[in-house]
Amino acid sequence: METHLQPTDLKNDTLLRALAREPTAYTPIWLMRQAGRYLPEYNATRAKAGSFLKLAKTPSLATEVALQPLERFALDAAILFSDILTVPDAMGLGLYFADGEGPRFERPLRDEAAIGRLAAPDPTVELRYVLDAVRETRRALAGRVPLIGFSGSPYTLACYMIEGSGSDDWRAVKEMLYSRPDLLHRILEVNARAVTDYLNAQIEAGAQVVMLFDTWGGNLTAAGYEEFSLAYSRRVLGALRREADGRRVPSILFTRGGGVWLDAIAASGCDAVGLDWTVNAAEARRNFGNKVALQGNLDPAVLAAPADRVREQARRVLDAFGAAPGHVFNLGHGISPQAGVEAVAALVDEVRAYSMQIRKRRP
Ligand code: CP3
Repeated sequence: METHLQPTDLKNDTLLRALAREPTAYTPIWLMRQAGRYLPEYNATRAKAGSFLKLAKTPSLATEVALQPLERFALDAAILFSDILTVPDAMGLGLYFADGEGPRFERPLRDEAAIGRLAAPDPTVELRYVLDAVRETRRALAGRVPLIGFSGSPYTLACYMIEGSGSDDWRAVKEMLYSRPDLLHRILEVNARAVTDYLNAQIEAGAQVVMLFDTWGGNLTAAGYEEFSLAYSRRVLGALRREADGRRVPSILFTRGGGVWLDAIAASGCDAVGLDWTVNAAEARRNFGNKVALQGNLDPAVLAAPADRVREQARRVLDAFGAAPGHVFNLGHGISPQAGVEAVAALVDEVRAYSMQIRKRRP
């Protein structure tokens, strides 16, 4: 193997190969939110830290929890332990977590003056703790598997920034979108700059793959998705550093509810498209398999079922994607706190075994 293409420190590059649509011995797997509350050791470290935010803002503890799932399961990637909402926090919106209620901002963006003052943070200053966590996690991994960095998409960040919390109907966002689209565009401009700088800083610090989470893009109309979400994600993707350590740094764009717009998403400039569980994977492979890699798309709810059911559903997903290069196994959305540790173990084991088996079948 050519050393200039293959930094000697990466022992398992299956994920990078699958993202490049190169053949792999098996289908690589990682799980969105793989470090989290379904793991007792995560809950213990979080208790030690005192809170989720303290955990995320302490690089040594963030490193510890990022590696926890790898100690249990044969996963093919680690993901930085952080949150998408650190960026608006660094913009001064005041992120906090009310007990059992999810994320909130002290100062949501509701008036024109505040929106006018909004500026992209310097990630090397205001988000330095994240970059330190990237460096420390990368060091601790010692080349076992690649490290994935991430950010929220400009639109998904704007949703939380305007609403001030999660929402069922995103009423404040929609009100701004239809009454003052100029203000929403102004926020999205700043966010696109912030996300670009943030992801490039993560790449510089050692992230080997980057992923954009567009968790709320699916709440838009088709035209709205293009104008307010995809246009800005495309801008970010087009401005990312392409290489690190002499290797391509692939990008993954995940839009929850984006199954109806896959044509546009696959043409956005990303290397891979994340599919939620509603997408027909076989169809997506036929339509986009020669353009981008695909990541997904087991229903996360499967992980509350007994291990034999989990294995059966995993085989279904693998059969739907088929054995051709360019599939990264994942859930269709983040793992839930209710997922069983045995269910995850069964999933990872089945994906490895069955994906090797289907590669040996005659076409
Ligand atoms: O994947 C990983 O293991 C890396 C860490 C990660 C977290 N959040 C840690 C976290 C990642 C990639 C995220 C992304 C994130 N955060 C998204 C996009 C992905 C998605 O799920 O669609 C969103 C929308 C957020 C915002 C956010 N952060 C929410 C809605 C919540 C509450 C979730 C809940 O279930 O209560 C968080 C908190 C959060 N981020 C937790 C973790 C492990 C749970 C906090 C805790 O320990 O109490």
